[in-house]
Amino acid sequence: MKNFIFQNPTKLVFGKGQISKLNELIPADVNLMITYGGGSVTRNGVYEQVKAALKGRKFIEFWGIEPNPQVETLRRAIELGKSENINFLLSVGGGSVLDGTKLIAAGILSDDDAWDIVLKGNAEKQIPFASVMTVPATGSEMNSGAVITRAETNEKFSFGGTYPQFSILDPEVTYTLSEHQIACGLADAYTHVLEQYLTTPNQSRLMDRWAEGILLSVMEIAPKIKENPCDYDLMADYMLAATLALNDFIRMGVTQDWVTHMIGHEITALHGTTHGHSLAIIMPATMRVLREQKHDKLLQYGERIFNITEGSEDERVEKAIEMTEKFYRSLGLTTRLSEENIGNKTIETIAKRFNDRGVAYGENRNVTGDVAREILLSCS
Ligand code: NZQ
Ligand code: ZN
Repeated sequence: MKNFIFQNPTKLVFGKGQISKLNELIPADVNLMITYGGGSVTRNGVYEQVKAALKGRKFIEFWGIEPNPQVETLRRAIELGKSENINFLLSVGGGSVLDGTKLIAAGILSDDDAWDIVLKGNAEKQIPFASVMTVPATGSEMNSGAVITRAETNEKFSFGGTYPQFSILDPEVTYTLSEHQIACGLADAYTHVLEQYLTTPNQSRLMDRWAEGILLSVMEIAPKIKENPCDYDLMADYMLAATLALNDFIRMGVTQDWVTHMIGHEITALHGTTHGHSLAIIMPATMRVLREQKHDKLLQYGERIFNITEGSEDERVEKAIEMTEKFYRSLGLTTRLSEENIGNKTIETIAKRFNDRGVAYGENRNVTGDVAREILLSCS
């Protein structure tokens, strides 16, 4: 196990009716701005609950943070926040609203352009922020990362900073999610675990078992949620699984991959494919191309997640990859670029972008633009 420091300060406030606690959770003396997406919260009662909880308090609102939040929109929110002396932000929406809010929190305290903060990769300072999370998927509600899009150039990059002060997770607010959003959320959570698990073997039994527990839970609930997306206990497990998949818990002392995410962000930036869907296309291909490097972990994964115990090692690895692709498809997602009309031009663009940036991703830092091209060809 590698050395690590673990500190996750986010207070999770979980369950039915918890939005009503907002007033006691937000300090009384702050200058509050609430951020929203495109309006889903007005159709599922979340907005009414927030307003009722904060009745009698003063706050301003910023609407219109889009899925894959755009820096062009967030610059306007930063200006508003600065001019109103905002010193506390509450995000009400999915991962996109919260990620956007994380950038607003940094921008309010900075003279730099918002995109420069993203490019730096790390926000030096952020005003306090918190969330009411309405999409189980990203883990943004309990982590320090954010992913921002620059529409002007079709680029999408992540940056790190601090954590939400608190996040309210009420599984009942997920009942209005579309089937596609649920599929993408489950795929995102599942892939987050794989990015931290399917790496170097024998680093930590504990992290492995913890990760496998999340993978098995997501696989077990996925078909049931399809049947009944308004079952409280199912949605509660889904919501908590998504949080635990990316809140630093399963990465203690182990190497991490993130190749699938890096390539997936490019697909989303260039084609608008929903984040979790991009991952469903790329992850099986990453496994195929890096199967030698990931050989031991793929065997373990195949045995413990899919009960694959027979055949040669190569056959078992092959089967584990096949079963992974089948799982993503069972959610209702396609897993090939051609099914989304994404062709060679995109593959070459991504390979060139990686090569131009001089990057090498993955647990062994060996996924360059050329390896990314192989991965993309493998799912074309
Ligand atoms: O904008 P509104 O009107 O609110 O509608 C949203 C949006 O259209 C809608 N929605 C939200 N809650 C709903 C709902 N519809 C019905 N019922 C509800 N309860 O859902 C749509 C998608 O929302 P979005 O926030 O984009 O989804 P998600 O939470 O999956 O966030 C995706 C973004 O997060 C980034 C992704 O790259 C992408 O930009 N990620 C952030 C991470 C992080 N911060 O750690 C890690 C992830 O790997 C990911 O990259
Ligand atoms: Zn993700």
